[in-house]
Amino acid sequence: MGLCLHLSFAPPSSSFSMHTFILLWCFGLFLTSVVGGNNETDRLALLDFKAKISKDPLGVMSSWNDSIHFCQWKGVSCGHRHQRVIVLDLDSQKLVGSISPNVGNLSFLLKLNLLNNSFYNEIPPEIGQLHRLEVLLLSNNTISGTIPSNLSSCANLTLFHAAVNNLVGEIPSKLGTLSKLRIFAIHKNSLTGIIPPSFGNLSSLEGLSVVYNNLGGSIPDSFGQLTKLKIFSLGSNRLSGTIPPLFFNISSITKIDVGVIQIQGYLPSDIGITLPNLETFFISRNRFTGSIPMSISNASNLHMLNLASNKFTGKVPSLEKLNRMRLFSISENQLGNGGGNDLSFLCSLSNATNLRDLEINTNNFGGKLPKCIGNISSTLTFLYLNNNKISGNIPNVIGNLINLEDIEMWNNAFSGNIPSILGNLQKLQYLDLSQNNFIGNIPSSLGNLTNLLELYLGDNNLQGSIPSSLSQCQKLTTFHLPRNNLSDIISSQVIGLSFSPNNLDLSGNQFTGVLPMEIGNLKNIEHLDISENMLFGEIPASLASCVELEFLAMRRNFFQGVVPSTFESLRGLEHLDLSNNNFSGKIPKYLESFDFLQLLNLSYNHFEGDVPTNGVFKNASATSFKGNDELCGGIPNFQLPKCKYKISKKRMLTLRFSSTNLIGVGCFGSVYKGILDQYEHTVAIKVLNLGCCGAFKSFKAECEALRNIKHRNLVKVITACSSIDNQGHDFRALVYEFLENGNLDEWLHPTPRTYKALEIPRKLSFLERLNIAIDVASALDYLHHHCQTPIVHCDIKPSNVLLDNEMVGHVSDFGLARFLHDIIQDSSTNQSSSIGVRGTIGYTPPEYGMGNELSIYGDIYSYGILLLEMFTGKRPTDNIFQDNLNLHDLVKATLPERIIDIVDPTLLRERHERGISINDNCNEDLNGSLKIQECLILILGIGVACSTEIPRERTNISSVVVELHSIRQNLLRTYIHI
Ligand SMILES: *[C@@H]1O[C@H](CO)[C@@H](O)[C@H](O)[C@H]1NC(C)=O
Ligand SMILES: *[C@@H]1O[C@H](CO)[C@@H](O)[C@H](O)[C@H]1NC(C)=O
Ligand SMILES: *[C@@H]1O[C@H](CO)[C@@H](O)[C@H](O)[C@H]1NC(C)=O
Repeated sequence: MGLCLHLSFAPPSSSFSMHTFILLWCFGLFLTSVVGGNNETDRLALLDFKAKISKDPLGVMSSWNDSIHFCQWKGVSCGHRHQRVIVLDLDSQKLVGSISPNVGNLSFLLKLNLLNNSFYNEIPPEIGQLHRLEVLLLSNNTISGTIPSNLSSCANLTLFHAAVNNLVGEIPSKLGTLSKLRIFAIHKNSLTGIIPPSFGNLSSLEGLSVVYNNLGGSIPDSFGQLTKLKIFSLGSNRLSGTIPPLFFNISSITKIDVGVIQIQGYLPSDIGITLPNLETFFISRNRFTGSIPMSISNASNLHMLNLASNKFTGKVPSLEKLNRMRLFSISENQLGNGGGNDLSFLCSLSNATNLRDLEINTNNFGGKLPKCIGNISSTLTFLYLNNNKISGNIPNVIGNLINLEDIEMWNNAFSGNIPSILGNLQKLQYLDLSQNNFIGNIPSSLGNLTNLLELYLGDNNLQGSIPSSLSQCQKLTTFHLPRNNLSDIISSQVIGLSFSPNNLDLSGNQFTGVLPMEIGNLKNIEHLDISENMLFGEIPASLASCVELEFLAMRRNFFQGVVPSTFESLRGLEHLDLSNNNFSGKIPKYLESFDFLQLLNLSYNHFEGDVPTNGVFKNASATSFKGNDELCGGIPNFQLPKCKYKISKKRMLTLRFSSTNLIGVGCFGSVYKGILDQYEHTVAIKVLNLGCCGAFKSFKAECEALRNIKHRNLVKVITACSSIDNQGHDFRALVYEFLENGNLDEWLHPTPRTYKALEIPRKLSFLERLNIAIDVASALDYLHHHCQTPIVHCDIKPSNVLLDNEMVGHVSDFGLARFLHDIIQDSSTNQSSSIGVRGTIGYTPPEYGMGNELSIYGDIYSYGILLLEMFTGKRPTDNIFQDNLNLHDLVKATLPERIIDIVDPTLLRERHERGISINDNCNEDLNGSLKIQECLILILGIGVACSTEIPRERTNISSVVVELHSIRQNLLRTYIHI
C-alpha cells in the first residue's frame, strides 16, 4: 500500500517527520500514474535540474529537498490527479546554470518558464519529448547553440519565446508544422539562414518577432496565408526583396517592423484601407520608392509611422485622421518639391494630441513654415526641420510648443530675427539654427533657457554682442556662433563666470579687445575656436588652467607677445593653431613632449630662434612655420637656416612684467623672474596686487620683518620698491634673490607642470629631505630666538620653502609675519587683529581657529605638519583626511611598528644617497635601509611632538634642530665611516 511504497522511496532523512507524512497522506498525494514514467521519475528529474544550477543567490532551490514533497518545491506545480509536474516556473530567479536534459522526463509538463535568468549552454533536445508542452519561455538568458528541430514534436506548443539569448544556426524548417503556435519570438540572437517558407503554414500564428538577427533571404510569399497575424517584426536583419503583395491584405495586422533591411518596392495605394488596424508601421532604412499613399490617413490607429531613410518622393498627403500619432518620421527621403505648399501637411497634424516626435528633416521641403505649427499639440518634444529649403521667419506661435526639448532647423533658408519667444521654451535642451539667414541680435531671452545643453547659431548674419544673459545657461556644454557679424568685446561676464562649456566656437566674427583673463575659468573646455576675429593683446596666462583643451585655434587675430610658459600644462592638445598673429619669442620647446599634438600651425608670426626637432616637429606635414623670418634649425624639410648661437644682451629691469616670466601667483600678488642690471643676477620680484585688501598690510609686514634679519635659511630681500606707476597707481614690489630650484611643495608633489619636458621627476632623497628639514627648523629657531624681537612667521608650509641650486632650504613669504611685541599690543587693544591672520588650511594650528593669539608655538605646529608631509608624502589636506582623521593622528597611530605603511614609498626604495659614496655591498645596503627606518621613526616622532594639540606641549624648535642634527650625524656614520 501507499504507506509502504512511500517509505521505501523515502531516503533516510531525519527531517522527514511522521507529521509531514500524515499531512501528505491526508491530502491523498499517494496516487501514482504509470503513463510516461512515474512520480519518482519527476523527482529525480527535478533533482538533476537542481544539480545543474551553479548559482542560486535567492536560495530558490533550498526548498528542493526531500523534507517536503516535490510538488511543494518552489516553482513546481503538479496535477491534482497524478501528482506529476505540470508547470516549472522559475521566472526572474537570478539562477545561473545549464538546463538539465532530464526536464525531458517531466512527461506531464505543460509549461516551462525560465525567463530572465542566466541559463547557459544549449536548449536540451530532450525537450522535444514533452508532447504535452504548450508554453516554452526561455527569453533573456545566455543560452547558446541552435533551436532543436525536434521541438516540432511538441505538437501542442502555442508560445515559444527564446529572445535575447546567444542562439546560432538556422530556424528549423520543421517548426512550420506547429499548427497551434501563436507566438514565435526569437529576436536579439545571432540566427542565420532564412525565414523558412514552411512558416506560412503556421495557421495560428499571431506574432512573429525575429528582429536583430542575421537572417537573410526574402519574406516568403507564403506569409500571405498567415491570416491571424497581428505582429510582424523582421527588422534589423539582412533581408531583401519585396513584401509579398498578399501580405498587405492581412487585415488583423497591428504592427509591422521591417526597418533597417533592404526591402524595396512601393507601398500599395490602398494600404490604409486593407490594414485598418495598423498601429505601428516601421519601414525606415529600406529602399521604398514612390509616394506615400493618400490612404495612409485611413489607418486611424497609427501611433508610430516611421518611413525615414527611403526614397519616397512627391507631396506628403493629408494626415488629418491620424489623431493618435505619437511619432511621425519621414526624414531622409526626397519628399517635397521646394515649393510653397510643401509643408501644408503639417496643418493636418493639429488633431494629433499626443504627438511627440515630428521629424521631416533632410528632404526637399521648401516654402514657409506655416503658422499652423503653433496648433500642433503642445506635447511636441522633438521638432526636426533641418536640411530642407524652408524660408521666411520662424512664426512666433512656436512659443506655444512649450514642451519642446530639441529644435533642429539648421541648413535651411530661414530669415528675419531669431524670435525672442524661443526664450519661453523652458524645457529646451538643444537649439540649432545654424546655416540660415538670420539677422539682428541674439535675443537676450535665450538666457532664460536654463536647461539648454547645446546652442548652435553659426553661419548666419547675426550682429551685436553676446548677450550677457546667456551666462545664466549654466548647463550649456556647446556654444557655437561661428561666421556671423558679431562684434564688441568678449566680455568676462559671458566667458568664464558661470557656464563652462566643453565646446566654444566664436570664430569668424568681429570680436575685438583682449581675451578676458576669466577664460581660465572654462575648466571643462576641450574645443576653443576664436580664430578670425580682431582680438589683440597677450594670451592670458590663465588659459593654462584649461587643462582639458584638445583643440585651440586663435588664427587670424592680432595677438602678440610670447606663448606663455604656463602653456606647458596643456598637454592634451591635439590641434594648436596660432597662425597669422603677431606672436614673438621662441617656439616653446615643451611642445615636443605634447604626445597628442597632431597639428601645429605657427605660420605668419614673428617667432624667432631655433625650431625644435622632436615630437610633432619631426612631422613636416603636421607643422607649419611659414612667414616667420627669424626661425632657424628644425628638421631639414623646413629648409630653415642653421642657428648661430650668441649670448643675448642682458635685459634691463624695465618694470614691464610679462606672463613668460611669471613664476608664481599668491594671495597678495604675482612673482616674476627678472634680471637686475646693477646686481648682474637673476632676481624674483613680487608685485603686490594692491586691489586686494590686505596687500598693503602684507607689504608692510614683510618689509619690516625682512629689514633687519639675515640668516642662511631665510630668503634674501635685495630691495623694496614703493612708487607710482605710469598710470598713476600705487606700485609696490619686493625684490628677492632668485632661487632656481623652486619650492619644496613642487618637489614633494610633482605635477607635469613642474618638471621639464621628457624628464622623469626626480624625487628628493632621504638625506635631502632631512637637510631641508634642518634648514627650515634653523630658520625658525633664528626667528623665534635670535632676533631682537621674536618674529612669528604664521605661514610655514612647503610652498614657502624655496630651494637654491644646492638644494638648501630658504624660508620665504613674510607677508603674514608678526613681531611678538605687536601681537601683545594687538591683543590687549584689539583682539580681532591677531585673529585675522589665518595662514593656510592644513598647516594652521587648531588654536588659531579658536581665536587664540599668535605665538611661536603656532609656527612649531605648522613645522611639525611640514615635517610629517616631507616624509610621508601626504598633504595634510589630502582627501583621506576627513572627519576625525588628520595627518598627525595617522602618523601617531602607526608609530613605531607600522610606519612602513605610511612613509613616502620612494624613501624605502632608496639605495644610494646623492653625494655620498657607499660600498655597493648587500649588507651595507641592508644596514642602510634598516638605518633609514630607524631614522624615520625618530623624525616622524619629532613631527608628531611638534604638532600636538596643546601649544605648550610642542617641542621647542631649538631642540628640534639639535635632534635632527644628531639623526643626520648618525645616518652619515653608517654610510661613510667617519
Ligand atoms: C508515487 O506514486 C506511488 C503510486 O504509484 C505512490 O505510492 C507514492 O506514494 C508516490 N510518491 C510520491 C512521492 O508522491
Ligand atoms: C533580463 O533579465 C535580467 C536578470 O537576469 C533582468 O534584470 C532584466 O530586467 C531582464 N530584461 C528584461 C527585458 O526583462
Ligand atoms: C493537445 O491539446 C489537445 C486539446 O487541448 C488535447 O486534447 C491533446 O490531448 C493534447 N495533446 C497532448 C499530446 O497532450
